[in-house]
Amino acid sequence: MSRSRPKISVIGAGNVGASTALMLAGLEHGDVVLVDIVEGMPQGKALDMMEMNPVLGWDSIITGTNDYADTAGSDIVVITSGIPRKPGMSRDDLISTNTAIVKQVTENVAKSSPNAILILVTNPLDAMVYVAHKVSGFPRERVMGMAGALDSARFMAFIAMELDVSVENINAFVLGGHGDDMVPLERFTTVAGVPITELMPKERVEALVQRTRGGGGEIVKLLKTGSAFYAPAASAVEMVEAIIKDKKKIIPSCVLAQGEYGIDGTFVGLPVKLGRAGVEEIMEINLSDEERSALHVSASHVKELCEHIETMGIL
Ligand code: NAI
Ligand code: 2OP
Repeated sequence: MSRSRPKISVIGAGNVGASTALMLAGLEHGDVVLVDIVEGMPQGKALDMMEMNPVLGWDSIITGTNDYADTAGSDIVVITSGIPRKPGMSRDDLISTNTAIVKQVTENVAKSSPNAILILVTNPLDAMVYVAHKVSGFPRERVMGMAGALDSARFMAFIAMELDVSVENINAFVLGGHGDDMVPLERFTTVAGVPITELMPKERVEALVQRTRGGGGEIVKLLKTGSAFYAPAASAVEMVEAIIKDKKKIIPSCVLAQGEYGIDGTFVGLPVKLGRAGVEEIMEINLSDEERSALHVSASHVKELCEHIETMGIL
């Protein structure tokens, strides 16, 4: 079948992967290939989505498969394969299982789609972007991680609920690694252009910052069997859309810093301009000493994780 729509593959057809595929299809961002190691499952979910298309008037083609040949020539590959957190686990507890999975998946993806842009979702996020970058050998412009978009969305949701205003009025920025030491930048967080620090008392801002840091854990505690997936999928889709539509949209994303913000050789969440080439620019904003040092603490945690991965003998 000839194709003129973008081809987007989603690896891992679990909660995040299937939700991502569904949203991509619904927004008609391209044709979607959904891959998993479990036989039949991605095929079943894809067929179910195809049968939903006539009801909703969607024309995207969704294919489920266990074979990377079907992903060949993808423009973008979203990697969600791996185990999620259970209550009591940190994202870092997932490291050995998910390093092996991301390595195997990336090898297959790099072979079948050598020009693709990779968006990692699997946790521990920043370390998994490191693994995919190393294994694929792709340039840093084409390997990134979704975390800042989600963490910023959570911060925005909490602010909208607190102030009873439209989410459309809110702009928020969360940088750093996708862990408890992420860096919500309250100074750059605004409601209709007004900094939140002028709209609520300091203690409330601090409470929302803390809730954002623990946002993933809050949902794990409620679900008991896994972690969040609707907002994570939407956040990955936001990144895909920025790339497919060449929007040049600034989205905090995990990228390899090469001197930006005084960080060199570490993967960490920074404000990134996303367009058709992937990471087209890392935006450098003036951080206060306190913000900068929080970003450095977060980056050093990622660096330690990546060093730990190197000692595991998996890569
Ligand atoms: P899930 O368990 O629902 O789905 C994971 C899927 O990966 C399963 O269907 C499994 O069969 C598949 N899989 C495992 N090994 C595979 C392999 N070698 N090849 C292909 N598929 C394979 O988990 P969920 O909730 O979808 O989460 C996926 C990952 O995303 C987890 O590591 C989770 O921590 C992470 N996550 C990251 C977020 C972020 O902000 N970066 C947000 C939410 C989740
Ligand atoms: C989250 O923040 C589990 O990292 C995932 O929801």
